[in-house]
Amino acid sequence: MSRKFYITTPIYYVNARPHIGHAYTTITCDTIARRQRMLGADTFFLTGTDEHGQKIERAAEAAGKTPQQYADEISAQFRNLWKRMGISNDDFIRTTEDRHKKRVQELFRQIRDNGYIYKGTYTGQYCVSDELYVDGAQPGDPCPTCGRITETVHEENYFFKLSAFQDKLLELYANPDFIRPETRRNEVISFVKSGLRDVSVSRSTFSWGIPAPDDPQHVIYVWFDALANYVTAIGYGSKHAAAQAAFKKYWPADVQMIGKEIVRFHCVYWPAFLLAAGLPVPKAIVAHGWLLFEESKMSKSRGNIVRTETILDVLGADALRYFLLREVVFGQDGSFSFDALVQRYNSDLANGLGNLASRTLTMINRYFQGRVPEAPQSAAGPAESLIAEIARKTIQDFGAHFDQFQFSRALESAWSLVAAVDKYIVENEPWSLGEKALGEKKDEASRARLATVLYTSAEALRIATALAHPVMPDATAKIWTQMGLGDIQKLALSDLAWGQLPPGTKLGEVQPVFPRADKSAVERMQNMEDQQRGAVAESPASAAPAATPAPAASPASADGKITIDDFAKIELRVGVVKVAERVPKSDKLLRLEIDIGTEVRQVVAGIAEAYAPEPLIGRKVVIVANLAPRKLRGLESNGMIVAASLEGGKPALASFLEDVPIGARLK
Ligand code: MSP
Repeated sequence: MSRKFYITTPIYYVNARPHIGHAYTTITCDTIARRQRMLGADTFFLTGTDEHGQKIERAAEAAGKTPQQYADEISAQFRNLWKRMGISNDDFIRTTEDRHKKRVQELFRQIRDNGYIYKGTYTGQYCVSDELYVDGAQPGDPCPTCGRITETVHEENYFFKLSAFQDKLLELYANPDFIRPETRRNEVISFVKSGLRDVSVSRSTFSWGIPAPDDPQHVIYVWFDALANYVTAIGYGSKHAAAQAAFKKYWPADVQMIGKEIVRFHCVYWPAFLLAAGLPVPKAIVAHGWLLFEESKMSKSRGNIVRTETILDVLGADALRYFLLREVVFGQDGSFSFDALVQRYNSDLANGLGNLASRTLTMINRYFQGRVPEAPQSAAGPAESLIAEIARKTIQDFGAHFDQFQFSRALESAWSLVAAVDKYIVENEPWSLGEKALGEKKDEASRARLATVLYTSAEALRIATALAHPVMPDATAKIWTQMGLGDIQKLALSDLAWGQLPPGTKLGEVQPVFPRADKSAVERMQNMEDQQRGAVAESPASAAPAATPAPAASPASADGKITIDDFAKIELRVGVVKVAERVPKSDKLLRLEIDIGTEVRQVVAGIAEAYAPEPLIGRKVVIVANLAPRKLRGLESNGMIVAASLEGGKPALASFLEDVPIGARLK
């Protein structure tokens, strides 16, 4: 029976459309899953969406939809994007599915029956954006994770006896493979050593969640609900024999991949819930760093996301996959830029692997009628031994780095083989050998050398292609077919060794796999993103100063009138000012942080002559929420405050006589 391998991504919140930060986690897991399948493991790869909780409920309300409608739409975006990218997940779990709901209740019941859940009252601070109880915070304090102002919660809750698990958790952490990388492990150890308090595992003041078993006044805390997906998806809590068998087979997970911001939930709460339920804990929880764009974490609230679709349209999925795994040192934060993406694409893919494939295969076509030549031993020398040696070492190093999650180093080693063969080809000049072999003299020695050089190059190409397959499934499958080797998915990676390319193999049709990207690729991608970011794309994008009337969304008709559809393009929302301060060296500008329900926006507004910063804090304002971001004095302004003014007069902020909820849309 083959070894099993179970790998999971976090399940993604449905309050925001997918961006390349989410794609990074999914791609990394997909690559690991693909390599495991090639190594013969019975692999199960799970991803999905996290759809309950107050954050989603509010986001749906702000969008004027029911939470279910809203979750359906965004979950479909994730699922469709993964399909378009050829992600090889075996299942996609949604926490609003019936199968999940029932099984989460079962887990809750089991832990309660085991004596680790009790009823109490929680009074304290809560961050809706992170769905996090913030211990020890006071009203008005910011969330330690995202910096947003916490909300005071006073409600009846079920509590989980986390405090009972301190020693058991520390025992788990003694295994250095349980939490990776080492820095995250150390953080978790010191957090747990500092003492654990019981945590709430239900909410009772809103309803968008899974009812607690036997007590429907409560919904299960969204993190309990979400973490449970890793076991519910594979059959935990089911009464069906097939599901039970799947759970028995796949649990515990071999790798649970997460972003570094959710380490505490996964390394403290999750194993404690499992221990409390009497279940085994995962073998490894692995945290990667963040993708940064314009120097900060790519996220919806900062308005600095890059959509995956843009890159797929221009360079394709394999280019993005290669770039993220090669460029980002796994575990650390990595910057994304279109420039770096195109540069890597051209140097490593178009000029590197792509060029090696096309020159080698074209020469085999030309000189050996499209059949891999036999390399006579007598014509081989130290140059060939060296390439064979590098290839053997590459197979070993690639595996060793990859298994340690050092994808960048693994790819570096595969590309050192590509570079070595490039050099070998240049030094051995197969084109000159070809001329001599085919010329008038039909030089036999040159023909033997040519066969050796091309066989050696093709064999090295085969090995680099096989190793890179999990990272770039499409392009490598094409190279494999062009080499006449059939379906690359049938390759058993554990048997990969130098010298297996059968002489006589008939090549397929040779075509470029990575056409060179020209300079305009960067600009095209940037433009596509700029257009997406400013839904009011045609407007003059005057994010500030405030007090100028909102520009029309599209050209007005001849009489200067716009249609209701034009108006509907402008997203006006109520927000509350959380932070207000003067912009240094400016008389006119204030920097504001405005909470619009789903997120906190930084807006730079030209109202400093009319308003002092402090009294603005707590005031409700109206902002144009879908204006393209713009930089003012080096600060990004993400929206515009609406104010009234006469030409040259002081602005007066728009406000309401009635109390209006934060996030409400003006229409
Ligand atoms: N729903 C929770 C997770 C529950 S798992 C039981 C959640 N969702 S999330 O959508 O906000 O983020 C999920 C994951 O997306 C992160 O852990 C991370 O893997 C990935 N990323 C989101 N933004 C990212 C970057 N800017 N950079 C890298 N990864 C990012 O948290």
